Amino acid sequence: MHLVRCSIGLLLLAWSANAIVYKTFGALPQISFDYVIVGAGTAGNVLANRLTENSAVNVLVIEAGPSDEDVLPAIAPLLAPGLANSPYDWNYTTLPQEGMNNRIIPYNRGRLLGGSSSANYFVHQSGSSDDYDKLASITGDRGWSWTNMRRYVYEHENFVKPSHVENAEKRYVPEEHGNLGMLPISLPSNPVALDDLVISATRELSDKFPYNPDTSGGTNLLGIGWVQQSIANGTRSSSSTTYLRSANARPNLFILIETQALKLLPTGYSGVKPAFRGVLLSSENSTPGYVFATREVILSAGTIGTPQLLLLSGIGPQKDLERHGIRTIVDKPSVGRNFSDHVLVPYWYDTKGLDTLDDTFRQPALMQAAIGKWMDNRTGVIANGGVNQMGFFRFQPNSSIFDLTLDPASGPKAPHWQMLISNFWNSRYVPIPNEGRFITFCTTLISPVSRGIVELASSNPLDKPIIDPRYLTNDYDKQALRDAARTMRKFASAKVFSDYIISPAGGSAGETDEALDDHIQNTADMVFHAVGTSSMSPENANWGVVDSTLRVKGTDGLRVIDASVWPFVPSVHTQGPTYLVALRGADIILEEHKPKTWSDFLLYVRTTWSSCSSALWRLGGLDNRVEF
Ligand SMILES: Cc1cc2nc3c(=O)[nH]c(=O)nc-3n(C[C@H](O)[C@H](O)[C@H](O)COP(=O)(O)OP(=O)(O)OC[C@H]3O[C@@H](n4cnc5c(N)ncnc54)[C@H](O)[C@@H]3O)c2cc1C
Ligand SMILES: *[C@@H]1O[C@H](CO)[C@@H](O)[C@H](O)[C@H]1NC(C)=O
Ligand SMILES: *[C@@H]1O[C@H](CO)[C@@H](O)[C@H](O)[C@H]1NC(C)=O
Ligand SMILES: *[C@@H]1O[C@H](CO)[C@@H](O)[C@H](O)[C@H]1NC(C)=O
Ligand SMILES: *[C@@H]1O[C@H](CO)[C@@H](O)[C@H](O)[C@H]1NC(C)=O
Ligand SMILES: *[C@@H]1O[C@H](CO)[C@@H](O)[C@H](O)[C@H]1NC(C)=O
Repeated sequence: MHLVRCSIGLLLLAWSANAIVYKTFGALPQISFDYVIVGAGTAGNVLANRLTENSAVNVLVIEAGPSDEDVLPAIAPLLAPGLANSPYDWNYTTLPQEGMNNRIIPYNRGRLLGGSSSANYFVHQSGSSDDYDKLASITGDRGWSWTNMRRYVYEHENFVKPSHVENAEKRYVPEEHGNLGMLPISLPSNPVALDDLVISATRELSDKFPYNPDTSGGTNLLGIGWVQQSIANGTRSSSSTTYLRSANARPNLFILIETQALKLLPTGYSGVKPAFRGVLLSSENSTPGYVFATREVILSAGTIGTPQLLLLSGIGPQKDLERHGIRTIVDKPSVGRNFSDHVLVPYWYDTKGLDTLDDTFRQPALMQAAIGKWMDNRTGVIANGGVNQMGFFRFQPNSSIFDLTLDPASGPKAPHWQMLISNFWNSRYVPIPNEGRFITFCTTLISPVSRGIVELASSNPLDKPIIDPRYLTNDYDKQALRDAARTMRKFASAKVFSDYIISPAGGSAGETDEALDDHIQNTADMVFHAVGTSSMSPENANWGVVDSTLRVKGTDGLRVIDASVWPFVPSVHTQGPTYLVALRGADIILEEHKPKTWSDFLLYVRTTWSSCSSALWRLGGLDNRVEF
């Protein structure tokens, strides 16, 4: 990745020039805003955009990391893995994972404008209709059902039909997509020999591996089809390049970067509910200070950052908070619990194919040439993500796997597992052999039963939290990955591959349960899709963190809007479901804050003033100080 860093300076991509991006909170012209959003990530930037549409409302969005401007690996698709363990990453790691041979898994998260939408690997989907209907049924709020949520797909997407792909409309279903929305999305732009073979194999084996004309989800997620990507014209589409950039010129939007929120500040009571409308901040190289929200603080710090902030602020399981000497303000046993994520296992094959990416990754000169080509006109291998096709599958209803657990899928139309196909040696753990060309079929556990936890390591906000996903600690999850591997191999043995695939490589050929387990334990990785740590729950449940309007239960003036509110991991790659949750979240806020009568309006002025003035008053005598 040395190469990538050298090239950063060559790139000039202009942000629209109007933005005033503050780098230290001391430079802000005011300390009180209508809304304070913590985290300018995938969800946070959607909110920043929607809430500033009304020019009478001002919004501060705070981002711990730097700008994404001119950050080459955040712009050039195939270079995205170069963001891992860079200045744009949180560099988290998990505890040793018992289900993965006690390996420590690097848990990357974007730490720059756009958050993980600036760092992810581009697969873009909405989710299965069953995911949304299950969410509606859990929360008792029909607003989360697919019937209602589907309209946000059209608001969100700008599906760009690739001009150079013949019959592109056979690779997606145009009616399922928007083309007036914010986020440019498109199909893979770099054709490879494997493409035609995969599509032919879906015809040869149409019974078990049917072709899916559109992989975005909705009521038809099952089968194999073309990946849709948050890439257009060879360039990443993130929440920063879209939602944030298009709101940039608004004078009521304040963007504060390189500033970490350390904890929330209680600002008085609304009835018996403590209000949290203050945020303690620390900009790089300056002393901490506060900002306040007259209306709401919205946490969009993601599945790791959001529970960490709640816990640091005294909102969490009392016994854990006590251990760190943090006073419990709201006892919430579910904060940081029910972490759920997808797990992926690679199976490599030697191939006769000549156009795999292995040599590009092995040889700096080839990589430099590919980057040069991309610089010229945004084409070539760098313009694309790492996967052109993928598929989603269910286990047979009579499979003995369901003796281990009730069917964990979101519903009858939702998958149990996934297959991802790439034309290179794909693994973060097993280095590519020095010689040879490879393709990789990854199997992914889509409906996991194992649940993990995010908890504090200490009361210091600058310490990384403890992340223990407890991957593959459930028998169903282990069996599911063995069964998925066996089914995937039936696909790989389609006749159309006989002149292309030579044989399994890298010791991934084992067939017995023991051999499969061994391979899974030693090579499994996660797919960065964690959710659940600030889960929505039914109105009167004794578990969960937020209600169906995304307010933190038992508090006033505080919401969570990001991936962490999903009670279970959706059946797809999670950026799309995160965007859709944020779009509805914004609508919920806009609707609630519309003063409906004059007396509402006066009440609103009184309550926001009193919470703000009590906050200012408390500044003198904090009883819940942070130690450094
Ligand atoms: C490497 C990688 C690859 C992925 N690949 C895919 C993929 O191909 N397809 C897909 O759909 N999904 C993918 N995902 C997952 C997807 O990107 C996430 O589910 C989604 O972006 C989560 O959005 P979010 O808003 O919850 O969090 P984020 O987008 O991570 O935003 C959180 C933001 O808050 C900031 N923040 C956190 N704490 C603080 C604090 N205390 N103070 C100030 N700021 C703070 C962070 O820096 C970040 O900008 C991938 C993720 C990663 C990391
Ligand atoms: C992550 O690691 C990189 C490389 O060591 C470093 O530059 C960066 O500052 C680290 N990020 C954080 C948040 O510590
Ligand atoms: C892609 O590029 C074309 C031609 O340069 C341009 O007309 C189009 O607006 C671009 N689309 C996006 C989404 O950037
Ligand atoms: C985790 O979620 C389940 C519902 O899926 C719930 O019953 C359970 O109480 C939750 N656990 C915690 C600790 O929140
Ligand atoms: C991009 O440039 C290459 C030459 O480097 C050329 O062959 C190709 O047609 C160009 N593509 C587009 C879309 O302009
Ligand atoms: C399950 O049902 C399928 C047909 O739907 C049948 O082919 C298969 O043999 C059955 N398997 C078992 C274990 O009963």
